[in-house]
Amino acid sequence: MTASVYPDHLRARVEDYLCELRFSDDAETAGLEEAMRYSLLAGGKRIRPVLALATARATGRGEDSVLPLAAAIELIHTYSLIHDDLPAMDDDDLRRGRPTNHRTFGEDVAILAGDALYAEAFRHALHLQPGEPRDVMAALSELAAATGVNGMVGGQYLDVTGADADLRRLHGLKTGRLIGASVECVLLVHGMPSAAYRTFADELGVLFQIVDDILDVTGTDAALGKPSGSDERHGKRTYVSEFGLERARTLARQSHDRAREALARAAGGGEGSTAELEQITDFIATRTS
Ligand code: IPE
Ligand code: IPE
Ligand code: MG
Ligand code: MG
Ligand code: MG
Repeated sequence: MTASVYPDHLRARVEDYLCELRFSDDAETAGLEEAMRYSLLAGGKRIRPVLALATARATGRGEDSVLPLAAAIELIHTYSLIHDDLPAMDDDDLRRGRPTNHRTFGEDVAILAGDALYAEAFRHALHLQPGEPRDVMAALSELAAATGVNGMVGGQYLDVTGADADLRRLHGLKTGRLIGASVECVLLVHGMPSAAYRTFADELGVLFQIVDDILDVTGTDAALGKPSGSDERHGKRTYVSEFGLERARTLARQSHDRAREALARAAGGGEGSTAELEQITDFIATRTS
């Protein structure tokens, strides 16, 4: 499969929106805001917020209806990257093509920048996300669950302790839940929960991390904007370490097929267009960065 197109119009909406965000109105904490914006605006792929906007389009609502929620998800993702790179975690020096947050601002400020991004994410969405209060609460409750002990942070715990957990479960928690929440929270905020979309979102999350594991072995620092070979250096359990490169590629292809099938089932009868969700699914399978 060749590299796929990316919904750049949605990415541009996200980029503009994130660029406008400010967190400090006080000179004493301006340095903290600088550290937060340093990582936030370093040009990530924006897969999670773009997924959120694409889901809003698939449900027939305009993408602007979920921008505050989408931004909150990207803030949380950025916090997770800052903490993931710390010396006590993956000890990496390069992220999004720049020196990592702790290399630039020091470990103490990097930890606080991550903490602040997490809190500001919820503050932002609670203040600005439109919708029935009950639906907004359901969406933010899912976002909290997806990033807590039974989600991203629990998965990171399994990752750093090298626990003997099933690899699909480890990946499902550390990465899959937040990718899944990018779809799921949008359905909840529109009062349209869907088991079929949930199956799609779960599969997409696992596919994302299988490809991340492969790229850690096959990619270059320049293309990835982060150090390749980080997993092997730290003895991480990955799809490549567990199954070898060729089998990992086969598993990624199978996961991509399952995600596409699940999306086709979920989309049946919907009012909006799933074109962008299809594009992102293909992009996640074929990406090189
Ligand atoms: C990297 O995520 C961290 C993982 C969960 C594997 P991305 O590959 O989405 O990173 P950015 O946002 O584009 O920098
Ligand atoms: C990180 O997984 C997942 C989270 C940040 C929650 P990785 O450690 O594989 O991510 P990269 O490869 O450093 O981006
Ligand atoms: Mg890690
Ligand atoms: Mg890492
Ligand atoms: Mg990785």
